[in-house]
Amino acid sequence: MDPYDVARPLLFRLPAETAHGAVHGGLELVQGTPVERLLASRYAAPDDDRLTVEAFGQRFPNPVGVAAGFDKNAAVPSALASLGFGHVEVGGVTAEPQAGNPRPRLFRLREDEALVNRMGLNNEGADAVGDRLAAAPVDVPVGVNIAKTEHVESDDAPADYRYTYEQVADGADFFVVNVSCPNSEGFRELQNRDSMAAILGELVDAGAAPLLVKLSPDLPTPAVEDALEIVDDLNLDGVVATNTTTDRPASLRSPNRAEEGGLSGKPIENDATGMVRFVAERVDVPVVGVGGVSSAEGAYRKIRAGASLVQLYTGLVYEGPSLAREINAGLLDLLDRDGFDSVADAIGADL
Ligand SMILES: Cc1cc2nc3c(=O)[nH]c(=O)nc-3n(C[C@H](O)[C@H](O)[C@H](O)COP(=O)(O)O)c2cc1C
Repeated sequence: MDPYDVARPLLFRLPAETAHGAVHGGLELVQGTPVERLLASRYAAPDDDRLTVEAFGQRFPNPVGVAAGFDKNAAVPSALASLGFGHVEVGGVTAEPQAGNPRPRLFRLREDEALVNRMGLNNEGADAVGDRLAAAPVDVPVGVNIAKTEHVESDDAPADYRYTYEQVADGADFFVVNVSCPNSEGFRELQNRDSMAAILGELVDAGAAPLLVKLSPDLPTPAVEDALEIVDDLNLDGVVATNTTTDRPASLRSPNRAEEGGLSGKPIENDATGMVRFVAERVDVPVVGVGGVSSAEGAYRKIRAGASLVQLYTGLVYEGPSLAREINAGLLDLLDRDGFDSVADAIGADL
């Protein structure tokens, strides 16, 4: 029996953010102790070369990573790796510490296997996160999701992003520029062409590499095309698709669909996969597919649609700590079924 069958109903009695704090706190307690090795012996992903992916100069032991927002302050990347994840994207991190929005700000949509959040980029700030990353090497690649400090005007955003990059540079393996958070004042206007080019250009000047940009699923098609042109012009290293959506699909049943914020989980899966395909058809760099991944089949759909790596957050809440191992084991079966030698072989098979 999966211990999460027991833990989930208990956790789901707590407010969502309290439950997240309990799980995260538990991971913090075990990280670096012998219990972390026990976790690894139970939850590690299969150690199999067919799962290995090379992307933007990094070697990923498997394609399944933790999406930004789960470990905002880089406190538990190693514990997450012991749960079978092949990379961890920590953050979003801002130059200055931020409290985020008032609670409650994270809501379960249980009937829909979804979440709505309006966290507002709560985090301890670049100095603290940078120190923590530099102090604790992790066995899998660690990316840092970099975002704008809330009170900083968009003209000053490039310098703000650069500051964060410089603080976290030493401890990270790749950098993701977040211009797509729906929950922070003045944030989405950063996705206009000029603002995005200025921020990304500044980071390229600062030497940030590998450098990826994370896009919103709510961007109109011409704006996505503009963003991809910038990716090309600046020779960026990858695209993460997608962030949460402010949209509310008609299919949602949970009363919490009325909460303001970004929707994640099952209901965004198909649109996120569509965006992966749209991006992968237009750029030559790796695409990281994120949005509603909660099974091997879902991960495989994103890979076939062009994702070199996938990430998840909401799936972990509903499926529990064995999810990365199950997805990776399931991927091996799907590769066998379809005659692919490796995950790398299946990337973009549907394009
Ligand atoms: C509580 C919460 C906090 C998040 N914080 C961030 C963040 O700081 N930066 C970011 O780029 N994405 C953030 N995300 C978005 C996720 O990284 C991911 O793009 C989105 O949730 C879709 O994936 P999922 O359906 O697997 O959850 C957050 C998501 C959740 C649920």
